[in-house]
Amino acid sequence: MNNLLSKTEYERCVAETRDERMKWWRDARFGMFIHLGLYSVYGKHEWAMAMENWPIEEYAKFADDFLPQKGCCREWAKLAKQAGMKYMVLTTRHHEGFSLWDSKVNSFNSVNYGPKRDIVEEFVQACREFDLKIGFYSSLMDWHHPDGGACAFDQEARIRFTKYIMELNRELMSNYGKIDILWYDVAQPMESFEGWNSLELNQMVRSLQPDIIINNRSLLEEDFQTPEGRIVPAGRDWEACMTFNGISWGCLDSGRVLPFSHSAQQIVRMLYEVTKESGNLLLNIGPKADGTIPEEAIEPLEAVGKWVKEYHGFLYGRTDAKQIIYHGTSNLTYCDNKAYVWNFFWPEKDRTIYIAGIQNRLKKAYFLSDRKEIAFKQDEYRIRLYDLPGEEEDRILGITVICLEFDGEVTYWGRGLNRHATRYPQLNYGMVYQKER
Ligand code: GLC
Repeated sequence: MNNLLSKTEYERCVAETRDERMKWWRDARFGMFIHLGLYSVYGKHEWAMAMENWPIEEYAKFADDFLPQKGCCREWAKLAKQAGMKYMVLTTRHHEGFSLWDSKVNSFNSVNYGPKRDIVEEFVQACREFDLKIGFYSSLMDWHHPDGGACAFDQEARIRFTKYIMELNRELMSNYGKIDILWYDVAQPMESFEGWNSLELNQMVRSLQPDIIINNRSLLEEDFQTPEGRIVPAGRDWEACMTFNGISWGCLDSGRVLPFSHSAQQIVRMLYEVTKESGNLLLNIGPKADGTIPEEAIEPLEAVGKWVKEYHGFLYGRTDAKQIIYHGTSNLTYCDNKAYVWNFFWPEKDRTIYIAGIQNRLKKAYFLSDRKEIAFKQDEYRIRLYDLPGEEEDRILGITVICLEFDGEVTYWGRGLNRHATRYPQLNYGMVYQKER
């Protein structure tokens, strides 16, 4: 690639456009990950080929039974939309090296084998039909390509393999219209961005898709961090990717995996965890080999969508807090002059919720669902929301959101502290402050 920018120049250019490119992504909060590949036929785990040391040609035979039905991508997109998700990321080619598109550089693909169709094309059409942003997962590691391992120690193999990866991603960036996210995975066996020619690779990507957002897994920082299997905020844009069951990204037998699968309440809890630290949640489903959605994911995602709608999608956009008020049963996110109380356990006995640690004067408190006002008192120690209904307001999931409007930008002292804490900053973690002597 001529006029290749140096790493410093490239990262400066990318940083200049990041806020504009990522505005939709930062507001989106919630996306669907789709893991579909030959592992969906085998049904044990997407790493089974490696972990069980399958001979390549034997594992490749699963392609004969890889038969995603027409319309399955539409079903995924419909459920994602119902769940309140704003984007989808599909495994276009996972580690087993099987491309789900009509690739001219990889004959091991879904047009030559299995469904004899371009699944990526169908996925893109479905995303556009449901107004969902489009993400392509693209594995760097490849267990099928003859140079996929040798590239680690053979320079010629490395040149051939990185060119192969370049051309695979060139096809994806060229043949399907505007693509919004490129989600690399597993930069193995080379362990440096130089080894992967990531600078050249990503400058090619961005030249074809100038608005694209790229994750940090080609060993360049790029646009966002990708904590996996745990919700850990990063000091910059970040998205936690989570399986639906804590076991596998690929499909598993629904009956047997159900006890391990997330409930709607657990998904909302994860949405709270990412919202409070300005992150995104990319929640995975692993469709079966015929493309059908795993049963255990349907009802929870539909219920989460109803909950999100009940609360007018308040979790989108910047409701992120600068700090968090931990109350366990009621946690808060806040931004500007509003705080949102996420109540996970309704106070049926005393019908009162106490909120300490906020310095501002409370002007109004109401249920976010229907804006029904709530009686409150505020003193130097805390806010008391009282005379609450005996039953929790939201019967969809038992997770109620209350909005508190203050007289100015919310200022928070710290966990459970009161105004004295400003004089005694060592009083943290909710130590009760005795009245001044
Ligand atoms: C890990 C796994 C891979 C999965 C990815 C999703 O990298 O190796 O199988 O697709 O996580 O983030």
